Amino acid sequence: MNKNKMIQKIDELKKQRNAVILAHNYQRGEVQDVADYVGDSLGLSIKAAQTDKDVIVFCGVYFMAETAAILAPDKTVLIPEEKATCPMADMIKESQLEEWKQKNPGSQVVCYVNSTADVKAGCDICCTSSNAVQVVDSLDEKKVLFAPDKNLASYVDDHSPKEIIPWEGYCYVHDDIRAKDIMKLKQIYPDSEVWVHPECRPEVIKLADKVFSTGKMVEEARKTEKKDVIIGTETGIIHRLKKENPNVKFHPARKYAVCRNMKKTTLKKIYLSLKNMEKKVEVPQHIKQRAEKAIQKMMRISDSD
Ligand code: 13P
Ligand code: SF4
Repeated sequence: MNKNKMIQKIDELKKQRNAVILAHNYQRGEVQDVADYVGDSLGLSIKAAQTDKDVIVFCGVYFMAETAAILAPDKTVLIPEEKATCPMADMIKESQLEEWKQKNPGSQVVCYVNSTADVKAGCDICCTSSNAVQVVDSLDEKKVLFAPDKNLASYVDDHSPKEIIPWEGYCYVHDDIRAKDIMKLKQIYPDSEVWVHPECRPEVIKLADKVFSTGKMVEEARKTEKKDVIIGTETGIIHRLKKENPNVKFHPARKYAVCRNMKKTTLKKIYLSLKNMEKKVEVPQHIKQRAEKAIQKMMRISDSD
């Protein structure tokens, strides 16, 4: 089946199933283009919770689809590629979290949404890259265990009076973006601005003009008066930035900053997912209830933004 035919079929099946397609900003361009909504982790969670459709086709990585399934319990959540997981989310297991908590009495636990549902169930509150500082500042205790991303933890530590104890996880895509990559591009485009994701290394963040979630990068791009912007995050977002802002040049800080799992979702897999109604994302009830509490707590804080 050619690409146009595939897009037409997806559209027909979407109507038949009363489905909505949600896609993360790192998805392939053609996947972003068939989606009803493209966004960051927080935006996608909000959309999943608010949709009136029966079926959510989630084009992203597994923890994102799991969050959608938790927030939209009456909907069928499908992930076109089950193996699209986030390696950072798998860097902390529930048993490790419990042991860590035991060793640190009198602290509260913040889990970045890039974590599995059972880890979320064991934390006090979740956060995303767009609200991490706000979430940490909302807590009563001074001491905060922050998992799994050490780079995001370090960014929060620099912006919050709390005592942050990081888990040693990281995102291989963002951790691979180096200060020398930014400096090289800055020499070529001296008038450019540098925007980076808070999953980047502290020395990369130091060189940035702005530190943003992917959603905030999309918003800022609509307002910027810069001609050149260096983007320190996964390169999939450049598709959308270029499409929406043809007069600005967006330069990836590192050409090879590609999340392999984000790219596993294809148009064909979306088509098959809608056709065969698979793979369904289900979270066991006992995990769901506790994980939902931690996510909803975060959502209330983001609402009051
Ligand atoms: P955002 O919430 O900023 O889109 O980040 C998600 C993610 O996986 C970053 O690597
Ligand atoms: Fe996980 Fe990094 Fe991929 Fe985001 S870019 S989904 S944090 S591996």
